[in-house]
Amino acid sequence: MTRVSIRRSAAILILCGFTLAMTASIALTQQPPAPKTAAEQFKNIQVLKDIPADQLIPTMQFIAGALGVDCEFCHVQHAMDKDDKKEKQTARKMMAMELAIDKNHFNNEIEVTCYTCHRGSPHPAGIPILSAESANLPPQEHHHDEVSEGADLPSADQILDKYLAAAGGAGALRKIKSRIQKGTIDAMGERYPIEIYSEAPEKRVSISHPSFGDSVTAFNGEVGWLGTPRGIHPMSSQENAAARIDAQLCFPVRVRELFQEFHVAPGETISGHQTYLVTAKGAGLSPVRLYFDQQSGLLLRLLRYAETPLGRNPTQIDYADYRDTSGVKIPYQWTLTRTNGSFTIRINSVEQNVPINEKLFVMPPPTPMPPPPHS
Ligand code: HEC
Ligand code: HEC
Repeated sequence: MTRVSIRRSAAILILCGFTLAMTASIALTQQPPAPKTAAEQFKNIQVLKDIPADQLIPTMQFIAGALGVDCEFCHVQHAMDKDDKKEKQTARKMMAMELAIDKNHFNNEIEVTCYTCHRGSPHPAGIPILSAESANLPPQEHHHDEVSEGADLPSADQILDKYLAAAGGAGALRKIKSRIQKGTIDAMGERYPIEIYSEAPEKRVSISHPSFGDSVTAFNGEVGWLGTPRGIHPMSSQENAAARIDAQLCFPVRVRELFQEFHVAPGETISGHQTYLVTAKGAGLSPVRLYFDQQSGLLLRLLRYAETPLGRNPTQIDYADYRDTSGVKIPYQWTLTRTNGSFTIRINSVEQNVPINEKLFVMPPPTPMPPPPHS
């Protein structure tokens, strides 16, 4: 691959939050066959044999993020199955070590992960780092989360009510049936146009136009898919769950239907705004962390995690530039960040309650998996 096409595929990976062509071969028939294991789908799997095949790439993204490296740190390009690099062989031992530590010492819960030791570097520090500043600080007190949770925190209901009111109120929000947003996306040092088509309650298609060809991220209320010049790839069940949240046209109204269990804590300061953190859990969705502006009541950050067999991959969305638009307040800018990069979308025009071509919400036939190279 040339440098440019490496960048391109990296951009596709980031934009779609997804895999290269290799994972997505799940045919959407009415009775799906038992999902393949990683060992069945890939050529040379020794430790992660029994994990679902569609979890392999998210797991790889997790370990790359945990070590702060690219895929090629361990892999020979175009031949991921080869064991030529000693880093890959070490990584396999490390996977077995992680799983053994968690099995033997943490009741089989994934507590210790690659990140626990590596912290974004291939070389964990085993010796405490000395610095003149830290030597002069008093010893740190160890606060438990619960300690700071006092009676002065509002309840989850109060925070969510304030959010709903700040966003325009249930009445105004429910009147919005569709929305077309147009703007730009900044990703991988490029800026290009994007359009987002949304329909209540939870259909959303975004189409961006980078120089290497259109890129589509879609969720039609039931299934999600990603389209790139390489083809159409259905989302995995985890990606579907995340896409469902992103597709909510009236999140302030729907948040209490999607999630049932809420927990309030003080949140960190985000761009100078003090926040409350509401952790929300719901059936069939991974828990999300929602950071609300204490002053305005609006949602400033959403953080969610995708489980993989070796750890959780975080995705953070920061919302900004809320503007009034026909009685509802919506963000005109947001930044989505993952361990492998981030992109920012800026909206410059919004139309609401306009008809949207329903064909946009029909998934095109998935592209079959390309034959493995060198076979
Ligand atoms: C720190 C090392 C490391 C990094 C970084 C890494 N991998 Fe892996 N990868 C491995 C190991 C080890 C295996 C084999 C796992 C096993 O034997 O259970 C593997 C297996 C694979 C396989 C299966 C190949 C086959 O057919 O057997 C694919 C595909 C893959 N990785 C893709 C990726 C991608 C894409 C990235 C970047 C997002 C990546 N890997 C990053 C270590 C790594
Ligand atoms: C208990 C701590 C710990 C955990 C957990 C851990 N590692 Fe390591 N890892 C180390 C140490 C220590 C080294 C040796 C560092 C050095 O040589 O500088 C290392 C080295 C490595 C190396 C070799 C780096 C190089 O430059 O050669 C790779 C690759 C690696 N780890 C991958 C992983 C992966 C992938 C995971 C998760 C599945 C993981 N590690 C989990 C402690 C850990």
